[in-house]
Amino acid sequence: MSSPDLDKFFQVALELTRKGGQLVRTAFDQPASIVLTKSSDTDLVTETDQAVEKLLIAGLGKAFPDHKFIGEESAAAGQKYTLTDAPTWIIDPIDGTTNFVHRIPLVAICVGLTINKEPVVGIVYNPITNECFSAIKGRGAFKNGFPIHVSSTEALNKSVICTSLGIHNVVGVGPAWLDRALENHKKTVIAGVRGGFQMLFAMVTHLPKAVFVSQLGSIRTPDIVKGFIDSFKSAMVDKNAHGHRAFGSAAINMVYVAQGSIDAYIEYGLHSWDIAAAVVICREAGATLLDPTGAAFDLMSRKVLVAGTEKLAREISGVFTHTDFEREGEEK
Ligand code: IPD
Repeated sequence: MSSPDLDKFFQVALELTRKGGQLVRTAFDQPASIVLTKSSDTDLVTETDQAVEKLLIAGLGKAFPDHKFIGEESAAAGQKYTLTDAPTWIIDPIDGTTNFVHRIPLVAICVGLTINKEPVVGIVYNPITNECFSAIKGRGAFKNGFPIHVSSTEALNKSVICTSLGIHNVVGVGPAWLDRALENHKKTVIAGVRGGFQMLFAMVTHLPKAVFVSQLGSIRTPDIVKGFIDSFKSAMVDKNAHGHRAFGSAAINMVYVAQGSIDAYIEYGLHSWDIAAAVVICREAGATLLDPTGAAFDLMSRKVLVAGTEKLAREISGVFTHTDFEREGEEK
């Protein structure tokens, strides 16, 4: 594939993504959306997700009739998909739908392109904050046109990492999922991570300089609530963390690694549309991407470990208990 082709793919995708952004922005300014659920009570979709995906697929399909598509909402509507060598657009119309539904401005339109199964173009656009992260393979990563780069942190006890409880996994893996995810959070505490993230616990040995992110998920058993409150108190009061935040979008977690705001991100149970676009941006920003087990990263394996340095990625990989998922998009 020649370079001018990639430029054209990128430019057309960027223009359509910005149009999709207008839909998201307009809907975000309205007081409410109609919210439907998909695989579980925590897996949400709105008319805006569907409208943005339709706009992107119609526009890209018109411009590039021989290209293929994998879209979150098309898949939710029952469309089967397999990743092939053909140019394939992998689309999440709103990553962070729960944030969108609750009018929290951490949402991203994600448009990635794979060729020969490799992500080569990526756009992660937050139309609310007007942050547009983008990359074309071999040309560097950018935010609103300015170059971005990962952090150089090499040790877990000096890092701020982001993880998510991945609550949807309770449906596929069963209640044991919670024990495993909580155990992994515990291990990061013991390893001395500066800030644990997007779901339960902030980890705390070096919290005085950290902004940490945690979030109480939709499962609220007494143990989980107590753990959340205890860790919050420990981080905010005993350890004097700089602050507390939560993100709620895999793509935003990843581009925050790409721009060096956080040092690493790990999550299980994702889909290719959550990460394909951000994969290109992270790689071009100098990140290491691995399967959480330490094996080579696989876009369809439903899990990701991304870090600013390989050393940090390998240390995190060694700390976590891993879970395997059936690869997505496999012919049955
Ligand atoms: C979700 C977000 C969230 C992650 C979930 C994803 P969606 O994507 O990326 O951060 O924890 O696993 O499903 O549904 O908002 O596009």
